[in-house]
Amino acid sequence: PSFGTNVTGQGDALDQRKAANEKDDTLTTRQGHPVKDNQNVRTVGNRGPMTLENYDFLEKISHFDRERIPERVVHARGAGAHGYFQSYGKVGEEPISKYTRAKVFTNTEVKTPVFVRFSSVIHGIHSPETLRDPRGFAVKFYTEDGNWDLVGNNLKIFFIRDPLKFPDMVHAFKPDPVTNRQSMERFFDFVSQSPESTHMITFVFSPWGIPANYRNMQGSGVHAYKWVNEEGKAMLVKYHWEPVQGIKNLTQKEAEQIQGKNFNHATQDLYEAIEKGDYPEWELYVQLMEDGEHPELDFDPLDPTKLWYKDQFPWHKVGKMVLNKNPENYFAEVEQAAFGTGVLVDGLDFSDDKLLQGRTFSYSDTQRYRVGPNYLQLPINAPKKRVATNQRDGQMTYHVDSPPGINPHVNYEPSVLNGLKEAEKVNPDHTPHVSGEVKYEAISRPNNFGQAGETYRRFSDWERDELIANLADALADVDKRIQKQMIENVTEADRDYGKRLEEAIKRVQESVDDKEGHAVKEAEQEGMPSDPY
Ligand code: HEM
Repeated sequence: PSFGTNVTGQGDALDQRKAANEKDDTLTTRQGHPVKDNQNVRTVGNRGPMTLENYDFLEKISHFDRERIPERVVHARGAGAHGYFQSYGKVGEEPISKYTRAKVFTNTEVKTPVFVRFSSVIHGIHSPETLRDPRGFAVKFYTEDGNWDLVGNNLKIFFIRDPLKFPDMVHAFKPDPVTNRQSMERFFDFVSQSPESTHMITFVFSPWGIPANYRNMQGSGVHAYKWVNEEGKAMLVKYHWEPVQGIKNLTQKEAEQIQGKNFNHATQDLYEAIEKGDYPEWELYVQLMEDGEHPELDFDPLDPTKLWYKDQFPWHKVGKMVLNKNPENYFAEVEQAAFGTGVLVDGLDFSDDKLLQGRTFSYSDTQRYRVGPNYLQLPINAPKKRVATNQRDGQMTYHVDSPPGINPHVNYEPSVLNGLKEAEKVNPDHTPHVSGEVKYEAISRPNNFGQAGETYRRFSDWERDELIANLADALADVDKRIQKQMIENVTEADRDYGKRLEEAIKRVQESVDDKEGHAVKEAEQEGMPSDPY
Protein backbone atom coordinates (compact mmCIF):
# COMPACT_ATOMS: atom_id res chain seq x y z
CA PRO A 1 0.00 0.00 0.00
CA SER A 2 1.17 3.49 -0.78
CA PHE A 3 -0.16 5.14 2.39
CA GLY A 4 1.95 5.93 5.47
CA THR A 5 5.37 4.73 6.46
CA ASN A 6 6.22 1.24 7.47
CA VAL A 7 6.90 0.85 11.20
CA THR A 8 10.35 -0.58 10.73
CA GLY A 9 11.08 1.34 7.56
CA GLN A 10 10.58 -1.86 5.60
CA GLY A 11 9.03 -0.20 2.57
CA ASP A 12 12.30 -0.49 0.58
CA ALA A 13 12.95 -4.02 1.80
CA LEU A 14 9.51 -5.07 0.53
CA ASP A 15 10.26 -3.59 -2.89
CA GLN A 16 13.60 -5.39 -3.03
CA ARG A 17 11.89 -8.63 -2.07
CA LYS A 18 9.31 -8.17 -4.80
CA ALA A 19 12.05 -7.64 -7.41
CA ALA A 20 13.96 -10.73 -6.23
CA ASN A 21 10.78 -12.85 -6.32
CA GLU A 22 10.19 -12.00 -9.95
CA LYS A 23 13.33 -13.96 -10.90
CA ASP A 24 13.15 -16.82 -8.45
CA ASP A 25 10.58 -19.53 -7.70
CA THR A 26 12.39 -21.07 -4.74
CA LEU A 27 10.18 -21.95 -1.76
CA THR A 28 11.35 -20.32 1.47
CA THR A 29 10.20 -20.15 5.06
CA ARG A 30 8.78 -16.93 6.50
CA GLN A 31 12.29 -16.28 7.83
CA GLY A 32 13.54 -16.29 4.25
CA HIS A 33 15.40 -19.60 4.48
CA PRO A 34 15.29 -21.73 1.31
CA VAL A 35 13.32 -24.95 1.93
CA LYS A 36 15.46 -27.85 0.79
CA ASP A 37 13.08 -30.65 1.78
CA ASN A 38 9.32 -30.03 1.93
CA GLN A 39 8.42 -33.77 1.98
CA ASN A 40 10.21 -35.14 5.05
CA VAL A 41 10.50 -34.05 8.66
CA ARG A 42 13.82 -34.50 10.42
CA THR A 43 13.96 -37.85 12.27
CA VAL A 44 16.37 -40.22 14.01
CA GLY A 45 16.83 -42.73 11.22
CA ASN A 46 14.15 -42.79 8.53
CA ARG A 47 11.45 -44.25 10.85
CA GLY A 48 11.54 -41.60 13.57
CA PRO A 49 11.12 -40.38 16.26
CA MET A 50 11.12 -36.73 15.24
CA THR A 51 13.46 -34.24 16.83
CA LEU A 52 12.31 -31.13 18.64
CA GLU A 53 14.51 -28.82 16.60
CA ASN A 54 12.40 -29.44 13.49
CA TYR A 55 12.11 -25.65 13.49
CA ASP A 56 10.81 -25.30 9.93
CA PHE A 57 8.16 -27.98 10.49
CA LEU A 58 7.06 -26.40 13.78
CA GLU A 59 6.80 -22.98 12.15
CA LYS A 60 4.82 -24.36 9.22
CA ILE A 61 2.37 -26.36 11.32
CA SER A 62 1.89 -23.71 13.99
CA HIS A 63 1.05 -21.09 11.37
CA PHE A 64 -1.38 -23.54 9.83
CA ASP A 65 -2.95 -24.12 13.25
CA ARG A 66 -3.79 -20.42 13.33
CA GLU A 67 -5.11 -20.03 9.78
CA ARG A 68 -8.74 -19.46 10.72
CA ILE A 69 -10.05 -16.36 12.41
CA PRO A 70 -13.48 -16.32 14.07
CA GLU A 71 -16.19 -16.24 11.43
CA ARG A 72 -18.60 -13.31 11.44
CA VAL A 73 -21.20 -13.83 14.18
CA VAL A 74 -23.83 -13.22 11.47
CA HIS A 75 -23.38 -13.07 7.67
CA ALA A 76 -20.54 -15.63 7.84
CA ARG A 77 -21.08 -17.03 4.33
CA GLY A 78 -20.21 -14.57 1.62
CA ALA A 79 -18.59 -13.66 -1.68
CA GLY A 80 -17.02 -10.39 -2.76
CA ALA A 81 -15.87 -8.39 -5.75
CA HIS A 82 -14.22 -5.09 -6.64
CA GLY A 83 -15.54 -2.43 -8.97
CA TYR A 84 -16.51 1.20 -9.13
CA PHE A 85 -19.40 3.56 -8.52
CA GLN A 86 -20.16 6.63 -10.58
CA SER A 87 -22.74 9.28 -9.72
CA TYR A 88 -25.16 10.72 -12.28
CA GLY A 89 -25.04 13.97 -10.28
CA LYS A 90 -28.80 14.55 -10.30
CA VAL A 91 -31.92 13.89 -8.31
CA GLY A 92 -34.60 14.02 -10.98
CA GLU A 93 -33.89 17.30 -12.80
CA GLU A 94 -32.13 18.91 -9.85
CA PRO A 95 -28.40 18.87 -9.12
CA ILE A 96 -27.65 16.33 -6.39
CA SER A 97 -25.68 19.05 -4.52
CA LYS A 98 -29.01 20.58 -3.54
CA TYR A 99 -29.38 17.62 -1.16
CA THR A 100 -25.89 16.36 -0.34
CA ARG A 101 -22.40 17.76 -0.45
CA ALA A 102 -20.81 14.26 -0.38
CA LYS A 103 -18.20 14.31 -3.16
CA VAL A 104 -18.93 10.70 -4.06
CA PHE A 105 -22.25 12.06 -5.36
CA THR A 106 -21.41 15.61 -6.47
CA ASN A 107 -18.31 14.69 -8.46
CA THR A 108 -19.63 12.94 -11.56
CA GLU A 109 -16.18 12.65 -13.17
CA VAL A 110 -14.83 10.23 -10.58
CA LYS A 111 -15.19 6.48 -10.69
CA THR A 112 -15.08 5.75 -6.97
CA PRO A 113 -13.51 2.32 -6.30
CA VAL A 114 -15.78 -0.04 -4.36
CA PHE A 115 -15.58 -3.44 -2.73
CA VAL A 116 -18.82 -5.35 -2.29
CA ARG A 117 -19.50 -8.36 -0.09
CA PHE A 118 -22.70 -10.34 -0.54
CA SER A 119 -23.70 -12.83 2.12
CA SER A 120 -26.36 -14.96 3.71
CA VAL A 121 -27.07 -14.32 7.37
CA ILE A 122 -27.69 -17.15 9.74
CA HIS A 123 -25.57 -20.19 9.01
CA GLY A 124 -21.81 -20.78 9.04
CA ILE A 125 -19.06 -19.92 6.65
CA HIS A 126 -19.55 -22.85 4.25
CA SER A 127 -23.32 -23.25 4.53
CA PRO A 128 -25.45 -23.69 1.38
CA GLU A 129 -26.24 -20.54 -0.59
CA THR A 130 -29.77 -21.72 -1.33
CA LEU A 131 -31.12 -21.26 2.19
CA ARG A 132 -34.14 -19.11 3.00
CA ASP A 133 -32.52 -16.09 4.62
CA PRO A 134 -32.05 -12.41 3.93
CA ARG A 135 -28.92 -11.68 1.90
CA GLY A 136 -26.31 -9.10 2.90
CA PHE A 137 -25.30 -6.44 0.38
CA ALA A 138 -22.40 -4.46 1.88
CA VAL A 139 -20.59 -1.83 -0.19
CA LYS A 140 -17.37 -0.08 0.76
CA PHE A 141 -16.82 3.12 -1.27
CA TYR A 142 -13.17 4.25 -1.19
CA THR A 143 -14.05 7.93 -1.72
CA GLU A 144 -11.71 10.91 -1.98
CA ASP A 145 -12.90 11.94 1.50
CA GLY A 146 -12.21 8.52 3.02
CA ASN A 147 -14.37 5.42 3.21
CA TRP A 148 -18.14 5.19 3.15
CA ASP A 149 -19.77 1.82 3.94
CA LEU A 150 -23.37 1.17 2.96
CA VAL A 151 -24.09 -2.06 4.86
CA GLY A 152 -27.42 -3.24 3.53
CA ASN A 153 -29.49 -6.31 2.76
CA ASN A 154 -31.40 -7.49 -0.30
CA LEU A 155 -34.75 -6.82 1.42
CA LYS A 156 -35.78 -3.25 2.19
CA ILE A 157 -36.98 -3.77 5.74
CA PHE A 158 -35.84 -5.65 8.85
CA PHE A 159 -37.29 -8.03 11.48
CA ILE A 160 -36.98 -5.74 14.50
CA ARG A 161 -36.64 -2.05 15.27
CA ASP A 162 -34.80 -2.08 18.60
CA PRO A 163 -31.13 -3.15 18.73
CA LEU A 164 -31.57 -4.59 22.23
CA LYS A 165 -33.50 -7.45 20.62
CA PHE A 166 -30.82 -8.35 18.05
CA PRO A 167 -28.81 -10.92 20.09
CA ASP A 168 -32.06 -12.72 21.08
CA MET A 169 -33.26 -12.73 17.51
CA VAL A 170 -30.00 -14.17 16.22
CA HIS A 171 -29.96 -16.82 18.99
CA ALA A 172 -33.48 -17.89 18.04
CA PHE A 173 -32.61 -18.09 14.34
CA LYS A 174 -29.23 -19.84 14.71
CA PRO A 175 -28.95 -23.56 15.47
CA ASP A 176 -30.37 -24.84 18.77
CA PRO A 177 -27.64 -24.81 21.48
CA VAL A 178 -28.39 -28.45 22.31
CA THR A 179 -29.12 -30.14 18.97
CA ASN A 180 -27.04 -27.80 16.80
CA ARG A 181 -29.89 -27.67 14.25
CA GLN A 182 -31.93 -24.67 13.24
CA SER A 183 -35.39 -25.10 14.71
CA MET A 184 -38.53 -23.49 13.31
CA GLU A 185 -40.04 -23.77 16.78
CA ARG A 186 -37.39 -21.51 18.27
CA PHE A 187 -37.46 -19.27 15.19
CA PHE A 188 -41.23 -18.70 15.33
CA ASP A 189 -41.27 -18.59 19.11
CA PHE A 190 -39.31 -15.36 18.81
CA VAL A 191 -41.06 -14.11 15.67
CA SER A 192 -44.60 -14.69 16.96
CA GLN A 193 -43.77 -12.75 20.14
CA SER A 194 -42.21 -9.92 18.09
CA PRO A 195 -45.15 -8.77 15.96
CA GLU A 196 -43.05 -6.08 14.26
CA SER A 197 -41.36 -8.95 12.35
CA THR A 198 -44.59 -9.95 10.55
CA HIS A 199 -43.74 -7.79 7.53
CA MET A 200 -40.20 -9.17 7.17
CA ILE A 201 -41.42 -12.75 7.61
CA THR A 202 -43.89 -12.16 4.79
CA PHE A 203 -40.97 -11.37 2.50
CA VAL A 204 -38.58 -14.01 3.82
CA PHE A 205 -41.04 -16.91 3.40
CA SER A 206 -42.05 -15.77 -0.08
CA PRO A 207 -39.72 -16.33 -3.07
CA TRP A 208 -38.08 -13.00 -2.09
CA GLY A 209 -36.46 -15.00 0.75
CA ILE A 210 -34.32 -16.99 -1.71
CA PRO A 211 -32.73 -14.72 -4.34
CA ALA A 212 -31.61 -16.81 -7.33
CA ASN A 213 -28.01 -15.63 -6.92
CA TYR A 214 -26.16 -12.43 -6.02
CA ARG A 215 -26.20 -10.84 -9.49
CA ASN A 216 -29.98 -10.95 -9.77
CA MET A 217 -30.83 -9.45 -6.42
CA GLN A 218 -31.60 -5.98 -5.17
CA GLY A 219 -29.90 -4.26 -2.26
CA SER A 220 -31.11 -1.72 0.25
CA GLY A 221 -29.64 0.35 3.04
CA VAL A 222 -32.94 -0.33 4.91
CA HIS A 223 -32.59 2.51 7.41
CA ALA A 224 -33.32 6.15 6.86
CA TYR A 225 -29.98 7.96 6.79
CA LYS A 226 -29.46 11.66 6.16
CA TRP A 227 -28.07 13.68 3.32
CA VAL A 228 -26.53 17.02 4.32
CA ASN A 229 -26.01 19.87 1.85
CA GLU A 230 -23.53 22.76 1.86
CA GLU A 231 -25.70 24.85 4.17
CA GLY A 232 -25.86 22.02 6.70
CA LYS A 233 -29.51 21.30 5.88
CA ALA A 234 -30.47 17.62 6.05
CA MET A 235 -33.07 15.36 4.44
CA LEU A 236 -33.89 11.76 5.32
CA VAL A 237 -32.70 9.36 2.61
CA LYS A 238 -33.11 5.66 1.87
CA TYR A 239 -30.83 3.86 -0.58
CA HIS A 240 -31.75 0.99 -2.92
CA TRP A 241 -29.68 -0.98 -5.45
CA GLU A 242 -31.47 -2.29 -8.53
CA PRO A 243 -29.70 -5.03 -10.56
CA VAL A 244 -29.38 -4.13 -14.26
CA GLN A 245 -29.39 -7.92 -14.86
CA GLY A 246 -32.98 -8.06 -13.54
CA ILE A 247 -34.40 -9.66 -10.40
CA LYS A 248 -34.77 -13.42 -10.01
CA ASN A 249 -35.98 -15.34 -6.98
CA LEU A 250 -36.39 -19.07 -6.39
CA THR A 251 -39.28 -21.19 -5.27
CA GLN A 252 -38.51 -23.64 -2.47
CA LYS A 253 -38.50 -26.51 -4.96
CA GLU A 254 -36.09 -24.78 -7.32
CA ALA A 255 -33.77 -24.01 -4.42
CA GLU A 256 -33.82 -27.64 -3.28
CA GLN A 257 -32.93 -28.81 -6.77
CA ILE A 258 -29.96 -26.45 -6.97
CA GLN A 259 -28.82 -27.31 -3.46
CA GLY A 260 -28.83 -31.02 -4.29
CA LYS A 261 -26.14 -30.40 -6.88
CA ASN A 262 -24.28 -27.28 -5.85
CA PHE A 263 -24.33 -25.49 -2.54
CA ASN A 264 -21.93 -22.78 -3.74
CA HIS A 265 -23.93 -21.68 -6.73
CA ALA A 266 -24.10 -17.96 -5.90
CA THR A 267 -20.35 -17.62 -5.26
CA GLN A 268 -19.66 -19.55 -8.45
CA ASP A 269 -22.09 -17.46 -10.49
CA LEU A 270 -20.56 -14.16 -9.35
CA TYR A 271 -16.96 -15.29 -9.83
CA GLU A 272 -17.49 -16.83 -13.25
CA ALA A 273 -19.49 -13.90 -14.61
CA ILE A 274 -16.71 -11.49 -13.64
CA GLU A 275 -13.97 -13.82 -14.96
CA LYS A 276 -15.59 -13.89 -18.38
CA GLY A 277 -16.11 -10.13 -18.49
CA ASP A 278 -19.86 -10.21 -17.96
CA TYR A 279 -19.68 -7.53 -15.27
CA PRO A 280 -22.75 -7.21 -13.06
CA GLU A 281 -24.16 -3.72 -12.57
CA TRP A 282 -26.56 -2.08 -10.17
CA GLU A 283 -28.14 1.34 -10.31
CA LEU A 284 -28.44 3.23 -7.05
CA TYR A 285 -31.78 4.83 -6.26
CA VAL A 286 -32.65 7.12 -3.37
CA GLN A 287 -35.90 8.09 -1.71
CA LEU A 288 -36.01 11.42 0.07
CA MET A 289 -38.21 12.73 2.87
CA GLU A 290 -38.08 15.94 4.90
CA ASP A 291 -36.61 15.18 8.33
CA GLY A 292 -39.26 15.12 11.06
CA GLU A 293 -41.91 12.96 12.66
CA HIS A 294 -44.44 13.15 9.80
CA PRO A 295 -47.67 12.76 11.81
CA GLU A 296 -49.57 12.42 8.51
CA LEU A 297 -48.01 8.95 7.98
CA ASP A 298 -49.36 5.86 9.75
CA PHE A 299 -45.80 4.82 10.57
CA ASP A 300 -42.66 6.45 11.91
CA PRO A 301 -40.24 7.33 9.08
CA LEU A 302 -37.37 6.04 11.23
CA ASP A 303 -38.95 2.59 11.67
CA PRO A 304 -36.81 0.06 9.73
CA THR A 305 -39.70 -2.45 9.54
CA LYS A 306 -41.48 -0.11 7.09
CA LEU A 307 -41.29 0.55 3.38
CA TRP A 308 -41.58 4.05 2.01
CA TYR A 309 -43.91 3.29 -0.87
CA LYS A 310 -42.72 4.37 -4.28
CA ASP A 311 -45.92 6.19 -5.24
CA GLN A 312 -45.52 8.50 -2.23
CA PHE A 313 -41.72 8.70 -2.11
CA PRO A 314 -40.43 8.26 -5.67
CA TRP A 315 -37.21 6.44 -6.43
CA HIS A 316 -34.56 8.70 -7.96
CA LYS A 317 -31.77 7.10 -9.94
CA VAL A 318 -28.49 8.65 -8.77
CA GLY A 319 -25.64 6.44 -9.95
CA LYS A 320 -24.30 3.15 -11.18
CA MET A 321 -22.03 0.47 -9.74
CA VAL A 322 -20.08 -2.03 -11.84
CA LEU A 323 -18.26 -5.05 -10.39
CA ASN A 324 -15.36 -5.89 -12.67
CA LYS A 325 -12.65 -7.63 -10.64
CA ASN A 326 -12.58 -10.75 -8.54
CA PRO A 327 -10.57 -10.87 -5.32
CA GLU A 328 -7.05 -12.20 -5.73
CA ASN A 329 -7.22 -13.86 -2.36
CA TYR A 330 -10.49 -14.76 -0.64
CA PHE A 331 -9.18 -14.59 2.92
CA ALA A 332 -7.24 -11.32 2.60
CA GLU A 333 -10.04 -9.47 0.86
CA VAL A 334 -13.44 -11.08 1.53
CA GLU A 335 -12.92 -12.67 4.94
CA GLN A 336 -10.97 -9.77 6.41
CA ALA A 337 -13.22 -7.08 4.93
CA ALA A 338 -14.83 -5.04 7.68
CA PHE A 339 -17.91 -2.92 6.99
CA GLY A 340 -19.78 -0.75 9.46
CA THR A 341 -22.71 1.63 9.57
CA GLY A 342 -20.62 4.27 11.34
CA VAL A 343 -18.36 4.66 8.33
CA LEU A 344 -19.77 7.82 6.70
CA VAL A 345 -18.21 10.75 4.85
CA ASP A 346 -18.95 14.48 4.91
CA GLY A 347 -22.41 15.11 3.44
CA LEU A 348 -23.84 11.82 4.74
CA ASP A 349 -25.16 11.42 8.28
CA PHE A 350 -27.03 9.14 10.67
CA SER A 351 -30.70 9.40 11.44
CA ASP A 352 -32.12 8.72 14.91
CA ASP A 353 -33.24 5.21 13.89
CA LYS A 354 -32.44 3.24 17.08
CA LEU A 355 -31.55 0.08 15.19
CA LEU A 356 -29.05 2.01 13.09
CA GLN A 357 -27.47 3.52 16.18
CA GLY A 358 -27.17 0.09 17.86
CA ARG A 359 -25.56 -1.35 14.75
CA THR A 360 -23.07 1.46 14.61
CA PHE A 361 -21.40 0.33 17.83
CA SER A 362 -21.63 -3.38 17.01
CA TYR A 363 -19.67 -3.54 13.74
CA SER A 364 -16.31 -2.05 14.67
CA ASP A 365 -16.57 -3.69 18.09
CA THR A 366 -16.84 -7.17 16.57
CA GLN A 367 -14.14 -6.37 14.00
CA ARG A 368 -11.60 -5.44 16.67
CA TYR A 369 -12.26 -8.90 18.11
CA ARG A 370 -12.69 -10.84 14.84
CA VAL A 371 -9.84 -9.34 12.82
CA GLY A 372 -7.83 -7.38 15.40
CA PRO A 373 -7.45 -3.81 16.68
CA ASN A 374 -5.52 -2.74 13.58
CA TYR A 375 -8.05 -4.09 11.09
CA LEU A 376 -8.17 -0.69 9.41
CA GLN A 377 -4.51 -1.01 8.36
CA LEU A 378 -5.31 -4.00 6.15
CA PRO A 379 -5.33 -2.99 2.46
CA ILE A 380 -8.97 -4.09 1.95
CA ASN A 381 -10.18 -1.85 4.79
CA ALA A 382 -7.77 1.09 4.55
CA PRO A 383 -8.94 4.20 2.70
CA LYS A 384 -7.21 4.52 -0.67
CA LYS A 385 -6.49 8.22 -0.37
CA ARG A 386 -4.83 9.32 2.81
CA VAL A 387 -4.67 8.28 6.47
CA ALA A 388 -2.87 10.43 9.02
CA THR A 389 -3.65 9.66 12.65
CA ASN A 390 -2.01 9.71 16.06
CA GLN A 391 -3.29 6.20 16.77
CA ARG A 392 -0.36 3.91 17.45
CA ASP A 393 0.62 0.35 18.28
CA GLY A 394 -1.49 -2.66 19.24
CA GLN A 395 -1.32 -6.18 17.87
CA MET A 396 -0.19 -6.50 14.27
CA THR A 397 0.67 -2.85 13.74
CA TYR A 398 2.00 -2.78 10.21
CA HIS A 399 2.86 0.85 9.73
CA VAL A 400 2.67 4.26 11.38
CA ASP A 401 -0.17 6.07 9.71
CA SER A 402 1.46 9.46 9.68
CA PRO A 403 2.83 10.84 6.41
CA PRO A 404 6.55 11.45 5.79
CA GLY A 405 7.36 15.07 6.60
CA ILE A 406 5.42 14.97 9.88
CA ASN A 407 7.63 14.95 12.96
CA PRO A 408 7.75 11.25 13.97
CA HIS A 409 8.18 12.20 17.65
CA VAL A 410 4.81 13.92 17.72
CA ASN A 411 2.04 11.36 18.08
CA TYR A 412 -0.37 13.77 19.76
CA GLU A 413 -2.29 16.94 18.93
CA PRO A 414 -2.12 19.94 19.52
CA SER A 415 1.58 20.61 19.02
CA VAL A 416 3.83 23.34 17.59
CA LEU A 417 6.49 20.76 16.66
CA ASN A 418 5.23 19.88 13.17
CA GLY A 419 2.60 17.35 14.12
CA LEU A 420 -0.74 16.69 12.43
CA LYS A 421 -3.31 19.51 12.41
CA GLU A 422 -7.11 19.52 12.49
CA ALA A 423 -8.82 19.80 9.13
CA GLU A 424 -10.30 23.12 8.12
CA LYS A 425 -14.07 23.31 8.49
CA VAL A 426 -15.40 24.21 5.05
CA ASN A 427 -19.17 23.78 5.51
CA PRO A 428 -21.47 24.24 8.48
CA ASP A 429 -22.25 21.06 10.47
CA HIS A 430 -25.72 19.60 10.47
CA THR A 431 -26.83 20.30 14.06
CA PRO A 432 -30.16 18.60 14.76
CA HIS A 433 -31.91 19.74 17.93
CA VAL A 434 -33.02 16.93 20.24
CA SER A 435 -34.89 17.10 23.53
CA GLY A 436 -37.04 14.74 25.57
CA GLU A 437 -37.23 12.59 28.66
CA VAL A 438 -34.63 9.85 28.88
CA LYS A 439 -36.56 6.55 29.09
CA TYR A 440 -37.12 2.98 27.91
CA GLU A 441 -40.07 3.17 25.53
CA ALA A 442 -41.16 1.85 22.15
CA ILE A 443 -42.04 4.25 19.31
CA SER A 444 -45.65 5.39 19.22
CA ARG A 445 -46.75 4.33 15.70
CA PRO A 446 -45.69 0.66 15.57
CA ASN A 447 -48.39 -0.34 13.03
CA ASN A 448 -46.95 -3.85 13.04
CA PHE A 449 -49.34 -5.39 10.52
CA GLY A 450 -50.53 -2.77 8.01
CA GLN A 451 -47.68 -3.02 5.53
CA ALA A 452 -47.39 -6.80 6.01
CA GLY A 453 -50.96 -7.08 4.70
CA GLU A 454 -50.26 -4.67 1.88
CA THR A 455 -47.18 -6.65 0.81
CA TYR A 456 -49.22 -9.89 0.93
CA ARG A 457 -51.81 -8.32 -1.38
CA ARG A 458 -49.19 -6.86 -3.73
CA PHE A 459 -47.51 -10.26 -4.32
CA SER A 460 -48.48 -12.10 -7.47
CA ASP A 461 -50.62 -15.23 -7.05
CA TRP A 462 -47.76 -17.72 -7.34
CA GLU A 463 -45.72 -15.78 -4.78
CA ARG A 464 -48.65 -15.85 -2.32
CA ASP A 465 -49.10 -19.60 -2.90
CA GLU A 466 -45.44 -20.13 -2.21
CA LEU A 467 -45.52 -17.94 0.92
CA ILE A 468 -48.43 -19.90 2.37
CA ALA A 469 -46.84 -23.26 1.53
CA ASN A 470 -43.48 -22.31 3.04
CA LEU A 471 -44.96 -20.87 6.22
CA ALA A 472 -47.27 -23.87 6.67
CA ASP A 473 -44.36 -26.29 6.26
CA ALA A 474 -42.31 -24.37 8.78
CA LEU A 475 -45.15 -24.06 11.31
CA ALA A 476 -46.82 -27.47 11.03
CA ASP A 477 -44.69 -29.07 13.74
CA VAL A 478 -44.23 -26.26 16.21
CA ASP A 479 -45.83 -25.77 19.62
CA LYS A 480 -49.58 -25.03 19.27
CA ARG A 481 -49.29 -21.72 21.13
CA ILE A 482 -46.73 -20.49 18.62
CA GLN A 483 -48.85 -21.64 15.68
CA LYS A 484 -51.88 -19.86 17.09
CA GLN A 485 -49.99 -16.62 17.67
CA MET A 486 -48.55 -16.67 14.15
CA ILE A 487 -51.99 -17.21 12.63
CA GLU A 488 -53.32 -14.35 14.74
CA ASN A 489 -50.49 -12.07 13.63
CA VAL A 490 -50.91 -12.70 9.93
CA THR A 491 -54.71 -12.47 10.26
CA GLU A 492 -54.17 -8.98 11.67
CA ALA A 493 -52.19 -8.25 8.50
CA ASP A 494 -54.82 -9.66 6.14
CA ARG A 495 -57.80 -11.95 6.84
CA ASP A 496 -57.21 -14.03 3.73
CA TYR A 497 -53.53 -14.46 4.72
CA GLY A 498 -54.58 -15.82 8.13
CA LYS A 499 -57.33 -18.07 6.79
CA ARG A 500 -55.14 -19.60 4.12
CA LEU A 501 -52.26 -20.17 6.54
CA GLU A 502 -54.52 -21.88 9.08
CA GLU A 503 -55.97 -24.19 6.43
CA ALA A 504 -52.57 -24.95 4.94
CA ILE A 505 -51.09 -25.86 8.34
CA LYS A 506 -53.97 -28.33 8.84
CA ARG A 507 -53.35 -29.83 5.43
CA VAL A 508 -49.65 -30.40 6.12
CA GLN A 509 -50.50 -31.97 9.47
CA GLU A 510 -52.98 -34.33 7.79
CA SER A 511 -50.47 -35.40 5.15
CA VAL A 512 -47.66 -36.35 7.52
CA ASP A 513 -46.89 -39.40 5.39
CA ASP A 514 -46.13 -37.27 2.41
CA LYS A 515 -42.48 -36.73 3.26
CA GLU A 516 -42.01 -34.13 0.57
CA GLY A 517 -45.16 -32.75 2.13
CA HIS A 518 -45.90 -29.29 0.85
CA ALA A 519 -49.12 -27.86 2.16
CA VAL A 520 -50.53 -26.60 -1.08
CA LYS A 521 -49.71 -27.17 -4.70
CA GLU A 522 -46.05 -26.31 -5.19
CA ALA A 523 -45.88 -22.99 -6.91
CA GLU A 524 -44.33 -22.63 -10.33
CA GLN A 525 -42.82 -19.28 -11.23
CA GLU A 526 -45.37 -17.48 -13.33
CA GLY A 527 -44.03 -14.27 -14.78
CA MET A 528 -41.72 -11.76 -13.19
CA PRO A 529 -41.34 -11.20 -9.45
CA SER A 530 -43.88 -8.73 -8.04
CA ASP A 531 -42.84 -5.16 -7.22
CA PRO A 532 -44.37 -4.69 -3.75
CA TYR A 533 -42.49 -1.44 -3.04
C1 HEM B 1 -22.85 -8.21 9.68
C2 HEM B 1 -24.65 -6.72 13.89
C3 HEM B 1 -28.76 -5.37 11.72
C4 HEM B 1 -26.61 -6.09 7.47
C5 HEM B 1 -23.01 -7.98 11.01
C6 HEM B 1 -22.05 -8.31 12.03
C7 HEM B 1 -22.56 -7.88 13.20
C8 HEM B 1 -23.84 -7.29 12.95
C9 HEM B 1 -21.91 -7.98 14.56
C10 HEM B 1 -20.72 -8.99 11.79
C11 HEM B 1 -19.74 -7.97 11.27
C12 HEM B 1 -18.35 -8.50 11.09
O1 HEM B 1 -17.98 -9.50 11.72
O2 HEM B 1 -17.59 -7.87 10.33
C13 HEM B 1 -25.91 -6.21 13.66
C14 HEM B 1 -26.76 -5.63 14.68
C15 HEM B 1 -27.94 -5.28 14.07
C16 HEM B 1 -27.79 -5.62 12.67
C17 HEM B 1 -26.40 -5.48 16.13
C18 HEM B 1 -29.17 -4.65 14.64
C19 HEM B 1 -29.18 -4.08 15.82
C20 HEM B 1 -28.52 -5.40 10.38
C21 HEM B 1 -29.38 -4.82 9.38
C22 HEM B 1 -28.76 -5.03 8.19
C23 HEM B 1 -27.51 -5.73 8.43
C24 HEM B 1 -30.69 -4.07 9.65
C25 HEM B 1 -29.20 -4.59 6.83
C26 HEM B 1 -29.61 -3.36 6.60
C27 HEM B 1 -25.42 -6.73 7.72
C28 HEM B 1 -24.51 -7.16 6.68
C29 HEM B 1 -23.44 -7.78 7.32
C30 HEM B 1 -23.70 -7.72 8.73
C31 HEM B 1 -24.69 -6.98 5.18
C32 HEM B 1 -22.25 -8.44 6.64
C33 HEM B 1 -21.18 -7.42 6.32
C34 HEM B 1 -20.05 -8.11 5.59
O3 HEM B 1 -20.30 -8.57 4.46
O4 HEM B 1 -18.95 -8.19 6.14
N1 HEM B 1 -24.11 -7.37 11.60
N2 HEM B 1 -26.55 -6.18 12.46
N3 HEM B 1 -27.40 -5.93 9.78
N4 HEM B 1 -24.89 -7.07 8.94
FE1 HEM B 1 -25.73 -6.61 10.67
